Amino acid sequence: MAALRVVVVAGSRRNLLNLSKTLHVSRANMSFSSLPPGKKVALSALGVLSAGGAGLALMLHQSVKASDLELHPPSYPWSHGGMMSSLDHASVRRGYQVYKQVCSACHSMEYLAFRNLVGVSHTEAEVKVLAEEIEVVDGPDDTGEMFTRPGKLSDYFPKPYPNSEAARVANNGALPPDLSYIVNARHGGEDYVFSLLMGYCEPPGGVAMREGLYYNPYFPGQAIGMAPPIYNEVLEFDDGTPATMSQVAKDVCTFLRWAAEPEHDQRKRMGLKLLMGTAILLPLVYYMKRHRWSVLKSRKMAYRPPK
Ligand code: HEC
Repeated sequence: MAALRVVVVAGSRRNLLNLSKTLHVSRANMSFSSLPPGKKVALSALGVLSAGGAGLALMLHQSVKASDLELHPPSYPWSHGGMMSSLDHASVRRGYQVYKQVCSACHSMEYLAFRNLVGVSHTEAEVKVLAEEIEVVDGPDDTGEMFTRPGKLSDYFPKPYPNSEAARVANNGALPPDLSYIVNARHGGEDYVFSLLMGYCEPPGGVAMREGLYYNPYFPGQAIGMAPPIYNEVLEFDDGTPATMSQVAKDVCTFLRWAAEPEHDQRKRMGLKLLMGTAILLPLVYYMKRHRWSVLKSRKMAYRPPK
């Protein structure tokens, strides 16, 4: 696109010599071989020390990890797992039903309000009906008394226990964690929660379980204070989906993924838009860059010594 230009530099010999000298000096300063012997030794020692230190740290870390005693969850092919796949909202809706009818007996979800469900799993009218099922303590009223009223869209999900002490007393001393962000709070996310729910089994021979603890190979320590919460037909789904154990576990995990990451679908949509925008802009920018620089890039410098 641009014609080749030749720029002829005419000048004295001394200028040229000076130029090559400075170039030489600065390049030599940067290389290892040109360092004084003392610095060479120091630098080598530093390299050996940091490599050794890193190796030692890795070894110590491995020795205390005891990773072989823990069963890691496999990674399941979630329908929302792909780069461009959204959450399965029918599954989120069923998952809410599982949470409400099973998990909410022990687990709070204190960061979720009823209004969060609107447009995600339920319509506004449906959520209003759901919210009105609960009783909320409000007040004080004109006489200074607290009163109860039916729930509203803006109310948060009710908690099963007033405080963590009460929760522990009711669960043999184990505290059921809040489930709002549980899939982000555990390694393996929904894979882990799914495996945990499906993973209860008989303890291997020779392993005795304390009263109130249950064997689960996915739980760190293998003894969990939560009794197996789900089984086949633990509830009946409103939409008629057969409530097998794995279906229930999958749906509640999808719901928990949405709860922990309500921006999931939006995030992927934005990512796709960004990629598409970049695909159009990047070639244009590259063309512009070639265009602007062509004058300089296609120039040739020649030195013509003075006669
Ligand atoms: C009977 C009460 C009860 C019910 C019902 C219940 N849980 Fe739990 N859950 C617990 C307790 C207690 C713990 C704490 C266990 C421990 O720390 O040993 C727990 C812990 C958990 C954990 C955290 C495990 C970890 O890695 O720390 C998850 C996840 C969980 N429950 C999910 C669920 C889901 C999903 C449901 C509904 C399908 C459910 N639970 C129903 C009592 C319950």
